[in-house]
Amino acid sequence: MNSTKIGTPVIVLNVKSYAESMGRRGFELAKVCEDVATKQGVNIAICPQQVELAKIASAVNIPCFAQHVDALEPGSHTGFVTLESVREAGATGTLVNHSEHRLRIADIDFIVRRASALNLLTIVCTNNIAVSRAVAELKPYSIAVEPPELIGSGRAVSKVDPEIVSKTVEEVKAVYSDCVVLCGAGITNGEDVRAAINLGADGVLLASGVVKAKDQRAALLDLVTGL
Ligand code: G3P
Repeated sequence: MNSTKIGTPVIVLNVKSYAESMGRRGFELAKVCEDVATKQGVNIAICPQQVELAKIASAVNIPCFAQHVDALEPGSHTGFVTLESVREAGATGTLVNHSEHRLRIADIDFIVRRASALNLLTIVCTNNIAVSRAVAELKPYSIAVEPPELIGSGRAVSKVDPEIVSKTVEEVKAVYSDCVVLCGAGITNGEDVRAAINLGADGVLLASGVVKAKDQRAALLDLVTGL
C-alpha cells in the first residue's frame, strides 16, 4: 500500500535481518502487526526484510517501509535498491541512514528529495541531537533518533536518555515543524512507549523487543498500551 502519510502516534517495527523475521516467519509477523493495528485501533508500520517487501506489502493493509534504499536512479547497477523499485513493490516509504546502514549526507539529501517527488515517505535515522537538527534541514517526512549504544540493549532510550528525545523533538520541530519525530533503541514495552510519547515523540522505531520476543503478539500488545 503506497500512501502519502502515516497516522501518529505510531509504532514502526524494523524486523532487520533476524532469523526470526525471515521468510514465512516474517510474513506471519507482518500479519500479527496488521491484526493488532486493526483490532486495537492503533498505528503500526512495518519494515520487512528487503526480499519480502513486495510480498508483505501486497498482503497487509498497514504501511510497509523498505529498510534501506541506495541513492541511485534506476539503471545499470547491480545488487542495489532504488526508490522506484520499492514504490513498485508497494512500499509507503523507506528507512534512510539506519545506524546499521549509514549513508553520506549528500546521499540522504538525494533520497529525501527523490522520495518526496515519488510520494514516498522517508524516516531518516540519526544518532544524536545535532545530527537530527542538521537532517531536519533536508525536510524528511520523519526523523528517528537512536543512540547506537542502546540499540538491541533492552534499555529504552526514552528512560535511559530522555533528554536526547525531548531535545531532538524540540530542535527538529524548530527547523521543520511538520516532521514526524520518532525515537528508538531498547524500546521493549508499553511503559517505554508511553515515556517516549510523554517526551514529545510522535512514536517509536524498534526491533528486537518484538522480533526476538518469545511471544511476538504479546510483546506488541504490551507496546501498544503506551500509545
Ligand atoms: O531500527 C530500530 C532499531 O535500531 C532499534 O533496535 O532492537 O533496540 O529495538 P532495538
